[in-house]
Amino acid sequence: MNKYDALAQPYRICNVEIPNRFAVIPMTLGALTYDEEGGFSDNLINYFELRARGGFGLIIPGAAATDYHVDPYSALGPNVNINTHWQERAKLLVDTVHKHGTKIFCQLTMGLGRNYPGLPGPSENPVWRNPDQKSPALTKEQIELKIADMIEGAAVAKACGYDGVEMHAMHWGYLLDQFGMAFYNHREDEYGGSLENRLRVARKLVEGIHERCGDDFPVGMRLGLKTYIKDYDKATLTGEEEVGRTLEEGVEIARLLESYGYDFLDVDTGTYDSFYYACPPMYNPQGFMIPLAAKAKAVVKIPVIAGGRMQDYDLAVKAVENGEIDAIGLGRPSLADPDYPNKVMAGETEKIRPCIGCNMGCFRRCVETGEPVSCAVNPQAARELVMGLKPGEGDKKVVVVGGGIAGMEAARTSALRGYRVTLFEKSDHLGGHVVEAGAHSFKSEIAKLNAWYKRELEDLHVDVRLEHEPCINCIRKQEPDVIILATGTNISQPDIPGLYRAVSSLDAIRHPEQLGNRVIVIGGGLVGCEIALDEANRGKDVTVVEALDDIMAAGGAGAPYPNKQMIVDLFENKGVKVMTSTKLVGINREGALVEKTDGDKELLEADSYVSALGFRPAPNLKEEWKELGKSIYEVGDATGAGTIMKAIWDAYEIANGI
Ligand SMILES: Cc1cc2nc3c(=O)[nH]c(=O)nc-3n(C[C@H](O)[C@H](O)[C@H](O)COP(=O)(O)O)c2cc1C
Ligand code: SF4
Repeated sequence: MNKYDALAQPYRICNVEIPNRFAVIPMTLGALTYDEEGGFSDNLINYFELRARGGFGLIIPGAAATDYHVDPYSALGPNVNINTHWQERAKLLVDTVHKHGTKIFCQLTMGLGRNYPGLPGPSENPVWRNPDQKSPALTKEQIELKIADMIEGAAVAKACGYDGVEMHAMHWGYLLDQFGMAFYNHREDEYGGSLENRLRVARKLVEGIHERCGDDFPVGMRLGLKTYIKDYDKATLTGEEEVGRTLEEGVEIARLLESYGYDFLDVDTGTYDSFYYACPPMYNPQGFMIPLAAKAKAVVKIPVIAGGRMQDYDLAVKAVENGEIDAIGLGRPSLADPDYPNKVMAGETEKIRPCIGCNMGCFRRCVETGEPVSCAVNPQAARELVMGLKPGEGDKKVVVVGGGIAGMEAARTSALRGYRVTLFEKSDHLGGHVVEAGAHSFKSEIAKLNAWYKRELEDLHVDVRLEHEPCINCIRKQEPDVIILATGTNISQPDIPGLYRAVSSLDAIRHPEQLGNRVIVIGGGLVGCEIALDEANRGKDVTVVEALDDIMAAGGAGAPYPNKQMIVDLFENKGVKVMTSTKLVGINREGALVEKTDGDKELLEADSYVSALGFRPAPNLKEEWKELGKSIYEVGDATGAGTIMKAIWDAYEIANGI
């Protein structure tokens, strides 16, 4: 028994006993989910088995298509109703999860509506981020067909052994959500108008499924309690000027859904239009969902699972103890650490590998690039059978140079493979630039990740030598078989007159107290924007100057959409001024002289200037150390400055291949 005991207690959804309060909430995982015939792949089944073994009491995999009559998306994907191979593999998935005492519900989707081009919705609406295209309106007959396919899908799921079903979804602005909201639903028939009319589809679904599958077969709804939108493609950070679903309406919907027969609610917030509430990045605080979920819980007796930045076990356990929620839904944190529940229940929370809310390995790959979903901090996630740890090849000595995140991952992976590892770090601490990256108040999970790596290296008995900058002879004495260079980056200081008057980005993060009240941040990449946000949070007057035509645009495709959307709205909310297509000419006593692309110049006065003009790889040791005649690899920023994901993935791949 420990202070998280309340999370280890069973609860009931309808007649189904769920062994504890940890639920994997649905995540579509992309290409590696299915085999060639559209059934769950071995990789996917193994993925969920790992989460079941890791202690999750309930697993709800990502949305499965049911509609094979109307909606081209559903007809294209593996369909639970018509794909018999899907059904066979689903049975195997269910049996595999059940072996660990975990329950599994099938999330069934009725469609995605205006979130994707070409898909029908309740009414004509501009397609998400494609305002020139319109989603066609469904006819009444088409609605009935879709409802029938969902009911059939539930019967199929029951026959496959699932313990229940969840309706996808009155959340994220998908089809059912569009029916629910007057903003998207302009129908004048019985499916539009009053709230009860807008919920008619949701009502027919639960009534139809209970009639077909029995009242003791649980039916739940994924429900966004508040949408935080002020227009198509426009979020409201504060929740004011809401045009979608207010919290009051969300709570009323919760009450009505229970009265219609729903057996549980799986609640969150946001839509595609307000993605930083739907897939909240690190700037959205942990547990922000709890007060909203508590309002719904106060009006219903059925269990409420709350998801979205619920990784903070201290907040979660209090919310469960106080009866504000029944269970915590973990999407991305279950990617980052499959054993999260077991670690919490054992009181070993320091062993949890934290999700850092970056959205790089998961959201971005799922929604933006279409690559298989994985995780920045756990490169094996959701591709364990493809990218799993390989056994070591004999006895090898690995020397890692550099104790930043890439060096630590290289050392950890090498040690896990059974190799002897020595890690040299020239400073007196591990973490490299991740120490600064984790210093802002909104990035505490990065600090936790750093602490997690340090602990892992200790547990794995990696020989860590701090304040050691090894020379070639020191390395020779180590008699390594393999050398991994993770020497990181130095600050990039271009030749701009007066730039010496600016504080470097790293110093600005380390000593924010040194900056005056009016701050100009030169460079609107991720580092510059986060410094600007931090300074604005301290009440400063902040301007960001960026040479490109957009902020956070550099580095591949730039920042994931929710992260960038949130920074832009936070800037607006806090009065941060942004000057794009503007480059710094120089800094003198009077101020910073900047020049726009049209040649206009302006002198900007400030008390402090921060230079956030990027990083460049530290001097290359690979050439110099060639004469050692050993295998030498470079990882992380040593091959070009990048994200935490690049550092970890690079290091993992190299260390897993030696
Ligand atoms: C890659 C990805 C895929 C998702 N797919 C689904 C889905 O199929 N169905 C669904 O209801 N929610 C889906 N979600 C939303 C998650 O269930 C969850 O609400 C979101 O990740 C926020 O919770 P978290 O902070 O625990 O990750 C998805 C989220 C991600 C990141
Ligand atoms: S990629 Fe980032 S946000 Fe996504 S699960 Fe991993 S750490 Fe969390």
